[in-house]
Amino acid sequence: MQDTIPAHVGIIMDGNGRWAQKRGLVRTQGHLEGLKAAKRITKAASDLGIKYLTLYAFSTENWKRSSDEVSFIMNLIKQYLRSEMDFSIRNKIRTRFTGDFEGLPDSIKKEIADTIRDTADFEGMQVVLAINYGGRDEIIRAFRKYAANNAETTAEINENDFHMYLDNPDIPDPDLIIRSAGEYRTSNFLLWEGAYSELYISDKLWPDWEKCDLEIAIADFQKRDRRYGGIK
Ligand code: IPE
Ligand code: IPE
Ligand code: MG
Repeated sequence: MQDTIPAHVGIIMDGNGRWAQKRGLVRTQGHLEGLKAAKRITKAASDLGIKYLTLYAFSTENWKRSSDEVSFIMNLIKQYLRSEMDFSIRNKIRTRFTGDFEGLPDSIKKEIADTIRDTADFEGMQVVLAINYGGRDEIIRAFRKYAANNAETTAEINENDFHMYLDNPDIPDPDLIIRSAGEYRTSNFLLWEGAYSELYISDKLWPDWEKCDLEIAIADFQKRDRRYGGIK
């Protein structure tokens, strides 16, 4: 039993489509409600004293969806970045990014880069947006950067040195990874960083998430016995 708040929480925000389908609405309506939930949970996480919050917003596999749905989500992300600026300033929230930035449309690249720059000095919670993110892709991109800098010594690669080439090496590994909407899989989220994360899966669809759901997940986390392969 521990009463500590997890320093880093990652969230696989799933179930927007099903939320809409249940109500006879189009999938994009679910994404719109999902955005509202993301805002609520960001505020709740900041109030609870979480230091890092990684939000899985769009995976490297989500390009398989219809171009209408993809562009709707991209526009929502832009809207999120703009509309959250006041909130970020008030709460000193720093925005960061993980994923394949180069593979994003130009307009959203600019919006992300501007937000990262404008919030860079804030010392409150850090929100890491995982957009065009895949755990395998992050590892491959890290390996390419590593190999470019260590051409002669690639065979001597070790975990600590390699880790420095991941997207945000200064951020501690997630203590807790939450998935909404009941699927028992990682869907390519934080494969390296999540090696010893505690997992919490809830059947509740993402647009229905409230602060109390985050509190329940944290209370569950606090009951876990983290052994990291050792014996206590
Ligand atoms: C999560 O909700 C949002 C993204 C993956 C962008 P989904 O759109 O995957 O919702 P379901 O899983 O179809 O219900
Ligand atoms: C994971 O959800 C990706 C995000 C939440 C951004 P998906 O809906 O894409 O995952 P699968 O297809 O159920 O594995
Ligand atoms: Mg889904």
